[in-house]
Amino acid sequence: MPAAKKSKSKKTRIKIFDTTLRDAEQCPGGAMTTEDKLKVAHQLARLRVDVIEAGFPYSSPGDFEAVQRIVREVKGPTIAGLSLCRPEAIERTAEALKVGRRVRLHVFLSTSPQHREGILRKSREEVLEMAVSSVKRARELIDEVEFSPMDATRTEFDYLCEVVEATIDAGASIINIPDTLGYALPPEFGDLIRRLRESVPNIGRAAISVHCHDDLGLATANSLAGVMNGATQVECTVNGLGERAGNAAVEEITVILDTRRALKRKFETGVNLKEIYRTSRLVREVTGIPVQPNKAIVGENAFAHSSGVHVDGVIKLLQRRSSFEIVRPQRIGRDKSEIVLTSRSGRKAVNHRLAELGYDLSAGELESIYRRFLALADQRKEVTDDELESLVADETRISQEIYALDYMHVVSGGTTVPTATVRLRRNGDVLEAVASGIGSVDALYRAIDDIIKVDHRLVDYNVSSVAGGTDALGEVTVRIGDKADAIHVGRGASMDIIEASAKAYLQALNKAVFRAEGRTPRRKAKRSKRKAKRARPKTGRGGKA
Ligand code: KIV
Ligand code: ZN
Repeated sequence: MPAAKKSKSKKTRIKIFDTTLRDAEQCPGGAMTTEDKLKVAHQLARLRVDVIEAGFPYSSPGDFEAVQRIVREVKGPTIAGLSLCRPEAIERTAEALKVGRRVRLHVFLSTSPQHREGILRKSREEVLEMAVSSVKRARELIDEVEFSPMDATRTEFDYLCEVVEATIDAGASIINIPDTLGYALPPEFGDLIRRLRESVPNIGRAAISVHCHDDLGLATANSLAGVMNGATQVECTVNGLGERAGNAAVEEITVILDTRRALKRKFETGVNLKEIYRTSRLVREVTGIPVQPNKAIVGENAFAHSSGVHVDGVIKLLQRRSSFEIVRPQRIGRDKSEIVLTSRSGRKAVNHRLAELGYDLSAGELESIYRRFLALADQRKEVTDDELESLVADETRISQEIYALDYMHVVSGGTTVPTATVRLRRNGDVLEAVASGIGSVDALYRAIDDIIKVDHRLVDYNVSSVAGGTDALGEVTVRIGDKADAIHVGRGASMDIIEASAKAYLQALNKAVFRAEGRTPRRKAKRSKRKAKRARPKTGRGGKA
């Protein structure tokens, strides 16, 4: 990978290295199943990122398997695996990667005095030696090797230059400069990249990459400062997820480079911006981590104009949208459907729109989504793309159910003690419970808990609406932790938030049951019918709803 490759258009091609499946996956709540990681990796390939960092194979057998499957199944981008600077970690990472050809081994080692002394307890010489021997070992196993001097922005500059020069000599063709703690300011970070280019004699033999964290809200600004000073790869994540405050957001970096004329004249990425919004929604869907409404580019309100003067401006100046919009939503795939879907739209129109949105669904799934679409359309004028996509997400989840919702009835309001009756099905058995709680959702969840006996705790419960208005689809995200501290995310959509709450909770519990039963032989539920009543609610659950 040459240092500053110019494309035919004479622009500098900036490579996008997506680390959602690694840096974001290790953040609280970011854990994904192998199937979810594959879904995200396929979508990142559609987004046309250059590199997907698929995981940390040495960290667990699950990560190893996920990286290997992504290498085998996802075509297009280079697939990278992260490794510690230890021979056994490098060998294991190479083993996961070598089932494919477009792969990269990414080794990292802390170089700052704080990390050398406080964490590694090694001298400058020892750290340098470890970095060099690790890059050499990695190069014996995999052709493309990236090296990251972790906490580079707090590393003594002369020492950083020494490490960079030695690791390039050892065979690294990409040198990544991480601002691990998100501490740098843009002018400083830009200067660091420029000085490295001026001071390291063999720097022309490697590409410079930047990896910025957002602890001070400067990840995107710092990454851009890096690009403006010679970096040709940016490491980023979807929705800006990642350790602590997250990483630079792929949607921000790519849209900025394509929006501001001064940057667009000089730089280009290979990203298909039309896939940005769908990628954002998918990551939100599989992690259950909501996107803040005012988030740049992908937040729900990023293109919503509500103040009178703006709405007026947008309507009057449709031809000259630049008055109030610097980015057109269509550019990132947030275009409104050409076909307005209403209760009179037939199957064909709905299927056509689903295909346009990129869904490849079975006949059974299409039929079921169409029935649910009709129920929704009957109650409103128009069904939006977002709502349609929620129905799809909900439907594809249903096919993985162990316990399925058969019936629910919740009574609450005024002085009534909120009480829920729930009936679930499992393998043809009908299981029923009644419980009361301090709110309707609390009662509902207690009734469900009386049926599904799996060790867990509720970590998070979140409600949002897919479109505006009281008749909008409500979406509920639930996160539960199991006995082994694994987090399971469930999401449910319905026009009734109590029903959406039940679906979300059931989905998360189904995942926990699946995992719990994966270790022991599957038991058939014994009870065929059960009633449970509790007068006094337990504390510590989501509260009133
Ligand atoms: O933030 C960081 O320094 C990292 C490295 C592993 C590149 O994530
Ligand atoms: Zn990081």
